[in-house]
Amino acid sequence: MHSFINNLPKAELHIHIEGSLEPELMFQLAQRNQIELPFNSVEEIRSAYNFSNLQTFLDIYYQGANVLQHEQDFYDMTMAYLLRCKEESVIHSELFFDPQTHTDRGIEIGTVISGIDRALQDAKTQWGMSSGLILCFLRHLSADAAMDTLEQALPYKDKLIGVGLDSSELGHPPEKFTAVFERALAEGLLTVAHAGEEGPADYIWQALDLLKVSRIDHGVRCIEDETLVQRLIDEQIPLTVCPQSNLKLCVVDAMSQHNILQLMDRGVLVTTNSDDPAYFGGYLNKNYTALVDSLDMTSEQAVQLARNSFAASFVSDDIKADFN
Ligand code: ADE
Ligand code: ZN
Repeated sequence: MHSFINNLPKAELHIHIEGSLEPELMFQLAQRNQIELPFNSVEEIRSAYNFSNLQTFLDIYYQGANVLQHEQDFYDMTMAYLLRCKEESVIHSELFFDPQTHTDRGIEIGTVISGIDRALQDAKTQWGMSSGLILCFLRHLSADAAMDTLEQALPYKDKLIGVGLDSSELGHPPEKFTAVFERALAEGLLTVAHAGEEGPADYIWQALDLLKVSRIDHGVRCIEDETLVQRLIDEQIPLTVCPQSNLKLCVVDAMSQHNILQLMDRGVLVTTNSDDPAYFGGYLNKNYTALVDSLDMTSEQAVQLARNSFAASFVSDDIKADFN
């Protein structure tokens, strides 16, 4: 079953590229850029990866991103992720990046986008892997800061497929970002948002109705609102679920209690994704195999998840038909 999953062509739709920064590369970049890390070894970094909720993870994740300084650093991080995709039969990926994590440290948004995009183009020409890039606003920062970030990104609009919303969910409802999402939509960008990871089902309603999102990232707390679940089914609104992340951030107590297959069996268009693989102990295949090991996922269900990943992607309908 594990090798079946490894060979199954898949798309990944929920991966924060900064969350793919492995401790080894973090250490290397810290040395290359003469950045002080509060850790003395790769082992020390890994042993700090014990999280009790989303915020305890975010604190360490933003600190790790400090080693990224130059265009080549963003290229190296992205290429390392894309090489993992190649090994795991991930043939299409839609990646998030957090520009404010870098621009707030004085790094030009163009440096960030160019480094990531150059790696995406190389993966396309070298092994035919397709991809898209989604700019995420940090929701713990202000709506004005998000609008300012969108303005800075517009000269690079041709390298983006959409905008998203991430970071600390509780206390930062989607409605705070209605104006910036409206502007992004007017610019022809698609929208997605993290909602219902730690936040309530109401945040999913807001993301749908106010931010006009095409997908919900996480969304597992939809289960608390039956009317909402029915809407997700009726409108086939995709959820990009991240099982291993949910376990590591204590959104679920045990993988055996995860609701992803229950939602799929009810007709919700769920997908499985890695979120921040360097921090949560595994890439996309690990997220599939965890469902086999803890939820007795069948090969038919694995194929359904892979099909869903293409159906929920932002590739054009004629390319989708090829994947089916
Ligand atoms: N940024 C990176 N990973 C995240 C997650 N799981 N939730 C919210 N923001 C994030
Ligand atoms: Zn995420």
